[in-house]
Amino acid sequence: MIILQRRKSRTFAVLLFVVTLTTLFFSYTYHDPSLYFFKFPLWLSNNAFSKRLCGCSECLADKDDDWFSERFNQSISPIMSEKNSLLSEETYRWWLQLQSEQNPANFSTVVETLFKLIPNMEWFMDSGPLRCRTCAVVGNSGNLKGSNYGTRIDSNDFIIRMNEAPTLGFENDVGERTTHHLMYPESARHLEHNASLILIPFKTLDLQWIISAFTTGTIKQTYMPVLTRITANKDKVIIYNPTFLKYVYDNWLENHGRYPSTGFLAIMFAIHICDQVSVFGFGADKEGNWHHYWERNYYGGAFRHTGVHDGDFEYNVTMLLAEKHKIKMFKGR
Ligand SMILES: *[C@@H]1O[C@H](CO)[C@@H](O)[C@H](O)[C@H]1NC(C)=O
Ligand SMILES: *[C@@H]1O[C@H](CO)[C@@H](O)[C@H](O)[C@H]1NC(C)=O
Ligand SMILES: *[C@@H]1O[C@H](CO)[C@@H](O)[C@H](O)[C@H]1NC(C)=O
Ligand SMILES: *[C@@H]1O[C@H](CO)[C@@H](O)[C@H](O)[C@H]1NC(C)=O
Repeated sequence: MIILQRRKSRTFAVLLFVVTLTTLFFSYTYHDPSLYFFKFPLWLSNNAFSKRLCGCSECLADKDDDWFSERFNQSISPIMSEKNSLLSEETYRWWLQLQSEQNPANFSTVVETLFKLIPNMEWFMDSGPLRCRTCAVVGNSGNLKGSNYGTRIDSNDFIIRMNEAPTLGFENDVGERTTHHLMYPESARHLEHNASLILIPFKTLDLQWIISAFTTGTIKQTYMPVLTRITANKDKVIIYNPTFLKYVYDNWLENHGRYPSTGFLAIMFAIHICDQVSVFGFGADKEGNWHHYWERNYYGGAFRHTGVHDGDFEYNVTMLLAEKHKIKMFKGR
């Protein structure tokens, strides 16, 4: 015990000596002792002694906030693969009642067919000290109108959009690049060849729809008419993992609403696969309207108050993420 303490204090003395020497060296060289006295040890602790969680200057996965750490779990993949497609009994039962179908098809049979068509990949689970991935999540709020965020959005590695969102004609405000586009059958749109379609399945029919939309085109209707064919790159299709969907609902929304909105699911997707996340086009515009940036529909906000999504709770969580510097919110105009 005594030997250990002696050794510890000797190590400390050596360290202090090195720091002092270096500080003196730098002060001599730069004639600014105060700066280096503080900066050098800080640099040391950031680089030499701690395990870096990503390659950016700040990583959102950093364990610097209890509220965040209690909820954040990077071991649940946001993306479905053949391997993780076996849902727990509890998850499957929860997922089946989201948009309950009369006679759902056999889930494992559908999944098997699906992964014969689309890639079966463990995408993006590559976080580590060598990765610095920046992402923009672009919501559909009217507050983007006149924001001039286009260049800033396009400068990210990933640009994640959702539902019907167009870019054509709105490039100045929303950018022109799209790497990932989240949708479900009822909100689907055609995509460029270089974008990745992310399907959020809320029922078994949604998985059958994506198969159909790339092959036979036989599914024309779910609870409403849907696109029978979709133009998109089949080799870039990603399925949002139902297990992750439930994790978002349990851990982040504390079971508020019936299930998360696409916007919230997009933010959650981003914070689990990116190292820095900027969020655009969420919330009302400065007049308090909740319409989309491409339309003048002031009733778009009505959905917030139905039992399907708890928009207020989602917005609170989003604001908390921003307060804790896990995401950067751009509020537009
Ligand atoms: C994260 O999720 C995995 C899989 O559900 C679970 O086993 C693990 O305990 C969770 N970790 C934390 C810190 O909650
Ligand atoms: C689905 O089909 C598999 C065989 O392909 C079978 O083992 C399983 O019990 C079926 N599941 C349901 C829910 O019917
Ligand atoms: C995808 O291709 C279009 C043109 O075909 C281009 O304008 C756009 O920048 C590309 N997007 C990305 C993310 O590379
Ligand atoms: C959101 O946060 C505000 C302020 O902290 C609080 O008054 C309100 O009840 C919260 N809303 C929800 C739905 O949790």
